[in-house]
Amino acid sequence: LPAVAGRGTLAGRHVLVTSGPTREPIDPARFLSNRSSGKQGHAIAAAAARAGARVTLVSGPVEIADPNGVATRRVETAQQMLEAVEAALPADVFIGAAAVADWRVEPSADKIKKGASRAPPTLVLRENPDILASVAQRREGRPALVVGFAAETRDVLLHAQEKLARKGCDLIVANDVGAGVFGADSNEVHLVSRAGVASWPRLDKTEVAARLIAHIAETLGETP
Ligand code: CTP
Ligand code: CA
Repeated sequence: LPAVAGRGTLAGRHVLVTSGPTREPIDPARFLSNRSSGKQGHAIAAAAARAGARVTLVSGPVEIADPNGVATRRVETAQQMLEAVEAALPADVFIGAAAVADWRVEPSADKIKKGASRAPPTLVLRENPDILASVAQRREGRPALVVGFAAETRDVLLHAQEKLARKGCDLIVANDVGAGVFGADSNEVHLVSRAGVASWPRLDKTEVAARLIAHIAETLGETP
């Protein structure tokens, strides 16, 4: 529980955050995943708890500790992340900071062998459900504020605006992941909404989290 339950700019609110990568099994020994460390998403969950919110964090496999004062649910695959998110709703705010694997494979029950004369196997990829879009497009029980991230290596703002529209969320936190963001302690982000773009300087991920939570509290207003 937050140290000062019932106080702070997000008191009385339920904030639901996804963080980290997902891991999609290929066989019992192997998986597909990505470079997300979970640092930014976990920092956001911690900042929301400090602001007095009740916080649920749905996290993929990460090497960092569960944040204090946050109910953390550990999952592995995108499908499990979607189920954990749905189980945690309703929420006032949803923040999708996870790097959800875009594709999964139909996993093999046994370890895939090289064989003596066989060619390398072909992985047939299927698209994973879009957790952010499914939360943003709920007809009933849509959180008042749905926030996504956009990880881009080029045309960052253009792609972020396209994702804002396509997924139907209220805010996209866009960052350039070409420049050593994965695993780093700092992040340079742009807040993209229908109102326009706000670009922040390179900041510690904890500072990005604090500012984002302050922005969300302001947007939401202070009465539950
Ligand atoms: N996201 C999600 N579920 C997915 C894919 C993405 O919830 N299956 C969310 C991420 O948590 C993030 C936002 O959508 O908040 C954008 O993720 P990103 O990977 O940048 O966008 P995609 O729509 O997957 O597009 P692409 O990877 O092709 O750029
Ligand atoms: Ca993606």
